[in-house]
Amino acid sequence: MNTDTSNFSDALSTVVDPIFEKTLGELGSLSNLRTDGDQHYATVRISSPSEAVREELQRRIERALKVHSLPTVQIEWDIQVPTRETVSNDPLPEVRNVILVMSGKGGVGKSTVAANLALALGKAGARVGLLDADIYGPSVPTMFGIAGHPSSEDGKRIVPLQRFGIKLMSIGFILEDPRQAVVWRGPMVHGALQQFLRDVAWGPLDYLVLDLPPGTGDVALTLSQQARITGVVVVTTPQEVALQDVYKSVSMCHKVRLPILGVVENMSYFLDDRGMRHELFGSGGGQAVAEYASAPLLGQVPIEPSVREWGDRGTPVVQSAPNTPAAQALNEIADQLATLVAQSHFERHGSKQSPPADEAKRLRVLR
Ligand SMILES: Nc1ncnc2c1ncn2[C@@H]1O[C@H](COP(=O)(O)OP(=O)(O)O)[C@@H](O)[C@H]1O
Ligand SMILES: [Mg+2]
Repeated sequence: MNTDTSNFSDALSTVVDPIFEKTLGELGSLSNLRTDGDQHYATVRISSPSEAVREELQRRIERALKVHSLPTVQIEWDIQVPTRETVSNDPLPEVRNVILVMSGKGGVGKSTVAANLALALGKAGARVGLLDADIYGPSVPTMFGIAGHPSSEDGKRIVPLQRFGIKLMSIGFILEDPRQAVVWRGPMVHGALQQFLRDVAWGPLDYLVLDLPPGTGDVALTLSQQARITGVVVVTTPQEVALQDVYKSVSMCHKVRLPILGVVENMSYFLDDRGMRHELFGSGGGQAVAEYASAPLLGQVPIEPSVREWGDRGTPVVQSAPNTPAAQALNEIADQLATLVAQSHFERHGSKQSPPADEAKRLRVLR
């Protein structure tokens, strides 16, 4: 058997990347092919931290090697989450992706979804921050069981708190009593958000997830004027009464050209002790919103007492009870989200992830 590295290169180049459905050769994802004794190595660049994606690509690689009668190759993964384009005075120059979690409606589980998605991406190996943009009703301190005041090393920038490897910022960390009501008016909220972006030392991040307040979307609008947003995750519940408000927030996104990455239906169903599924609040809401938004339904999260209990006890469910159906649904949604984020960059800029000059101009004009 001839095990020249060029044979490996030929075989591996034909493998199709599960995110972009293009070959590793076309994408230029292969490097560092080498042989040491009878062990073969290759580095493969991948655009998502998702373990499921990695496993799928590994399977495809093994199949291709088998077809070419080649021995196995030890793969070294080079996870490179694609980055959004930053503008010259971008408040978040080191943040590759900004993801807004929103819904026109309160109580649908935005904060729960935002916290668990952030954690799921972090557990997969990405560098993640979570910004609690709900100035009037912060939930990050409770959901992460964390209080206390962030410090500032240089007296200029605030160092975010950290838990489970996630960088966290919330107005709740700054108020003397986090339960005290914020009575700020619009411009103050605007200013606080600006500070949370610009004056927090987020450092290099693959994803900054923003947990937005309910409402008409002025916060989303403010944010979209300050930094280029990768995309929005819309959270809804299945029942009809929730939908009107959610539709409004979808329209707002369309109006201000905020791309919607996908829709999460939360509190979709309840599984009883025998595993029977009960649709307590009706069905179809997530699908209806997804169609309205022309975006995929990323998943359905069941209603589970453990989600609320763990949320109240300061450890989101993907961390505290990863084997529950809700946690599994949230993990799968995070995987899908990472894939969609990567694809959205690819659609815009092609595989090299740097926009052609005229494209860059066009994007700037749109803003
Ligand atoms: N899938 C779920 N199962 C059970 N309880 C949930 C679920 N999702 C959210 N909750 C609970 O519902 C309440 C509202 O959720 P929250 O995430 O704060 O909503 P929002 O941020 O949209 O106002 C919280 O007490 C939360 O723990
Ligand atoms: Mg909330």
